[in-house]
Order: sequence, then structure tokens, then C-alpha cells
Amino acid sequence: MAYFRLMRIDILTIFPEMFAAILNESILKRAQDKGLVQMHTHNLRDYVIAETKRKNVDDYAYGGGAGMVLGIEPIARCIESLRSQRVYDEFIYLTPDGEVLNQGMSNHLSTKQNLLLLCGRYKGVDQRVRDHFITKEISIGDYVLSGGELAACVLTDSIVRLIPGVLSDESSALLDSFQGELLDAPVYTRPAEFRGWKVPDVLMSGHEAKIDEWRYQQSLEKTQNRRPDLLKDKND
Ligand code: ADE
Repeated sequence: MAYFRLMRIDILTIFPEMFAAILNESILKRAQDKGLVQMHTHNLRDYVIAETKRKNVDDYAYGGGAGMVLGIEPIARCIESLRSQRVYDEFIYLTPDGEVLNQGMSNHLSTKQNLLLLCGRYKGVDQRVRDHFITKEISIGDYVLSGGELAACVLTDSIVRLIPGVLSDESSALLDSFQGELLDAPVYTRPAEFRGWKVPDVLMSGHEAKIDEWRYQQSLEKTQNRRPDLLKDKND
């Protein structure tokens, strides 16, 4: 019998509702239904200490400047509560000044057991959170989002689909663009002809070796045209 490992991802956010649609549809939903991954969102507002004067999760930045900063207290309380219950492999902060996500990072993270993702908002989080709790900082690209929530969804999706057993045909994740350092070849489905636009003959030939060769050449050509940097990195 195949052995499946259960991964757990905890997401800390002030907008937990943003995750409902993404986590509960399609592949991410199936992964949870199959018992391969558990995902939990935690509303940081629930961790605000009622007795303190600071009733909000965010506050003005010391030294002035526009934008609010997520404070350390609710984040520390939430993280400490979670890590008293299990050991985490990584405490990840989604931020535009983090390491830019790539397939290799997702592959690596998909082998982990427990991950915690912290979503920033406004101007970011108090630096002490980053210094004392966070073990990895990840950006999903060189552009600024309104917060880390969408980035956390992207990261979660890219990790979960790699967990063995999540995709029905496991090889399909292995053949993805980037997985083999080349972009994907074009794909076609029925009908074989639409308004005179035909599917390439080779794909209809049933000749497996020729199809593989065609796909490889197409991948190479596309990569050369669109992402020559991927080939350059390989040849360096
Ligand atoms: N938060 C805001 N922008 C982001 C980005 N590009 N990546 C990760 N987190 C973010």
C-alpha cells in the first residue's frame, strides 16, 4: 500500500475569507479531501490582546511615514500557540523583498511536513517578527500586491500540487514547464480541425517517438524565444 504523508499548512492573515474560494476548489480541495494536506487559516484579529490599549492588529510606524504596520503582539501569540502544538519546518513571510519563488523552492517545500505562512498587509510587519520568528521570506515576483494573501495562495498551490498522490497522473507535475527547465510544448484536443485550423499531423500519427521528439523541439524553441535565460543558466 502506498504511504501518504499528511502535510499541514497554517496561514496567518487578517483576511481569512480571501482563502475560502482558492483552498476549497479544484486540486487544493481534492488534496484535502484525500487526506494529503490540511490547511488552516488563522485570523490575526483573534489574537489581539483585549486588555492592552492596542485594540488593532496594525499601528502607525515609529519614526513616521505613510502606511500602517502589522504589530508583533498578535502575530507572536498566534505563532507561539501553533508551535506549542507541533514542530514547524519553516515560518514563511510573504513579502515583495523576499527571495523570488521558483519551481526549485516549491519542490523543496513540498517535501516538508508543517509550514506556517504569514501574510503581511499595509507597510508590512514589525521587523522584530521577521528577526525572531520568520525562517524564510518569499516573494512571488517583482511587483507589489496589496498584501501577502494572494502570494500565499500562489505558494500553497505550487507546493500542494507536487505532493505525491495529489495529481491523479503524477507524471503530469513532473512534465510541467520549469520542472524540466524547459517551457511546455503546445497542447491540442478535439476537434482535430476547427475553421480550417488543424492539429499538427505528428500528434495524430500515433508514433510515440516522433511525438516525443516534436514536443522536445517545440519546448526548446519556445524556451529559446521566450525565456533564453533558462537555457543560459543551464549552460553557464
Ligand atoms: N506582498 C506584497 N507583494 C508581494 C509579492 N510580490 N510577493 C509576496 N508577498 C507580497
